[in-house]
Amino acid sequence: MSEQRLLVTGGAGFIGSNFIRLWLARHPSDRIINLDLLTYAGNPANLDDLTDDQRERYTFVQGDIRNRELVEHLIGEHGVEVIVNFAAESHNSRAVLDPEAFLRTNVLGTQALLEACRRKGVRRFHHVSTCEVYGDLDLDSPASFREGDPYRPRTPYNASKAAADHVVRAYHETFHVPVSISMCANNYGPYQFPEKVIPLFTTNALQGKPLPLYRHSENRREWIHVVDHCLGIERILERGRVGETYHIGTGLEKSVEQIADAILGTLGLPQSLKIYVEDRPGHDRRYLLDSSRIRRELDWQPTIDFEQGLRETVRWYQEHPEWWKPLLNRAAVQETGWGR
Ligand SMILES: NC(=O)c1ccc[n+]([C@@H]2O[C@H](COP(=O)([O-])OP(=O)(O)OC[C@H]3O[C@@H](n4cnc5c(N)ncnc54)[C@H](O)[C@@H]3O)[C@@H](O)[C@H]2O)c1
Repeated sequence: MSEQRLLVTGGAGFIGSNFIRLWLARHPSDRIINLDLLTYAGNPANLDDLTDDQRERYTFVQGDIRNRELVEHLIGEHGVEVIVNFAAESHNSRAVLDPEAFLRTNVLGTQALLEACRRKGVRRFHHVSTCEVYGDLDLDSPASFREGDPYRPRTPYNASKAAADHVVRAYHETFHVPVSISMCANNYGPYQFPEKVIPLFTTNALQGKPLPLYRHSENRREWIHVVDHCLGIERILERGRVGETYHIGTGLEKSVEQIADAILGTLGLPQSLKIYVEDRPGHDRRYLLDSSRIRRELDWQPTIDFEQGLRETVRWYQEHPEWWKPLLNRAAVQETGWGR
């Protein structure tokens, strides 16, 4: 297969770095340029384990996706055909404290990338979105979100992701930029910044610290291993239709309580480490995606069993304190402080 050049944005973050590792391994002729601003969540060490061959096909550029001239320059200089946009402010709790940063990067940044695509021409602009744009579901509802459902974002993070999706579709309809969008459930796996619930609980437990569960600990999320998410994006890039939106989900739901119990169980630690704190404002009850389209049309399905994937992930954090310990003082939000 001929060599492709991909521009991956936000590739020093959790999902983007997993995507780059997976893509370079599975596409031995392709080259990747990683454009990442290196915010508190960006960490070049996430890709320290690339092989020499992979490193030769990999270029890191520190910069902002809002810098349209830079993006145009990178497209021209490297002959970029495909852009995959992971770059975002991604933490709901932080968005409660600083909503503007989310609108700047997630909306205006996405628009700048699209404008660069419109001016320079690319074969595909793939945008990584989230199930959270649809709002939340009742805990006992039989419904799940389907592609085309109305957007009902409830938090600044969700609203910024929803707005970005609208801009992506508008650039397709108005300027014929060849876009695709994927929405995904909650990801877990190695290299996730320790502000998100699974690495937060795991790294707290490993330090003998309490696990802060929101009081509504029965609230549920659909969970997917990051590798399955990346394989879904790969499938959309290879076989997906331009202009289309695809859900990437497992159908597997777990409450926050169940996640905490599973982590403590894997580490052989007592339930007494769980403490209950006030919910973050706008704490969604439940998300669940109907992912039948990607399964039916693109023959994708998840490959990693949740129990095994979670155990391996917890073990990964246990075995890599040198990765997460330096990140602890970068986290901006105290999850125990919402009631004050
Ligand atoms: N983590 C999940 O469970 C999940 C689920 C569904 C969708 N998503 C989406 O997937 C994408 C990646 O999420 P993640 O969990 O890897 O996030 P992350 O916070 O780990 O990584 C985001 C990366 O983007 C970079 N970045 C931030 N602002 C930038 C800017 N202006 N210019 C260039 N780079 C910038 C950061 O430095 C960081 O490396 C996001 O768009 C997120 O909304 C995440």
